Amino acid sequence: MTVPHAPLIQVRNLSKRYPVGTISRKLLHAVDEVNLTIAEGECIGLVGESGCGKSTLARVLARLIDPTEGEITLSGTDIGTIPAKKFGGSMLRRDIQVVFQDPTESLNPGFTVFQAIADPLKRLSSGSQRSVADLVFAALDDVGLPREYAGRYPHQLSGGQKARVGIARAIAVNPKLLVLDEPTSALDVSVQSLILHLLATLQKQRNMSYLFVSHDLNVVRLLCDKIAVMYLGRIVEFGPSKSVFYNPLHPYTRALIDSIPDPERKNAARTKLAGSASSPINPNPNACRFSGRCPVEMPVCSQAMPTLSPRDADRLVACHRADEPALRSVTKAEVHTP
Ligand SMILES: Nc1ncnc2c1ncn2[C@@H]1O[C@H](COP(=O)(O)OP(=O)(O)O)[C@@H](O)[C@H]1O
Ligand SMILES: [Mg+2]
Repeated sequence: MTVPHAPLIQVRNLSKRYPVGTISRKLLHAVDEVNLTIAEGECIGLVGESGCGKSTLARVLARLIDPTEGEITLSGTDIGTIPAKKFGGSMLRRDIQVVFQDPTESLNPGFTVFQAIADPLKRLSSGSQRSVADLVFAALDDVGLPREYAGRYPHQLSGGQKARVGIARAIAVNPKLLVLDEPTSALDVSVQSLILHLLATLQKQRNMSYLFVSHDLNVVRLLCDKIAVMYLGRIVEFGPSKSVFYNPLHPYTRALIDSIPDPERKNAARTKLAGSASSPINPNPNACRFSGRCPVEMPVCSQAMPTLSPRDADRLVACHRADEPALRSVTKAEVHTP
């Protein structure tokens, strides 16, 4: 039996809204009333299509930007009310580190690899017995980059090597939580799997927690313990990776899974989504966000917002129809589950 780990980071009713234009009172609801707990050593995958709010949630949780509403606690300490700028300048920054999507953009072109990794270390490792140089070289070893790369500049590195530097910089300060925002989506497919393998190894070795953001459910399924599925700013389904993937309860999760190419299911019934997501600007508070696009919609779906509620022991689903077994369409479960 696995021992449940203590919660590392908890967000409660977290929202991030952006004003639209200068005079209108319209608000773009990028993240809406999200609840999420990441335990020590746990890897949570956050998936959903482009624009659904994944990066915004990741940035608020990593305290790069401030929430509009809600609570964020780190090992029980309130960190949600500390302004992002102050958080960035505090020693708390060490506990939550971020790996960004595009390593080219996130590395300063004027910094060598050594300087890139040493920079956060100088600010955040004051208590360490080891020298900054020692820690930089140890981080390079950990991400599989030869030490002679320390003197190179980003333009002298391949995409995969830049990704390794971004990871080395983040892990060098020994964070408790790594927030990874589509860390491999700018890379070639062959390099992607190497980096994913490295991230999986590092997580186990160091018992870090991950919030792993991706639009690719397949990647998240392989790396993460649990999956949170996001649609238009809200989490619509949450649970252990395998059960979410093989037994999706929300029609949007089913559509996401069905959109993954699978030659074994060429002729199987698939949920296809028509149109695009509705606007995140002033969304109807009394309707499911998926309404208008949902293949199994009922009248209640455009009259009441479904709440994220427990189903099937360890699952959470926000759908008025999640309890109806008939709606659990033929999915990969039937094909692959032993
Ligand atoms: N700084 C910002 N100002 C205004 N709107 C923003 C800002 N950042 C993101 N958004 C909007 O918030 C929504 C969610 O964006 P984002 O979090 O980047 O989604 P994802 O990472 O899932 O693609 C989008 O509609 C986007 O246009
Ligand atoms: Mg994003």
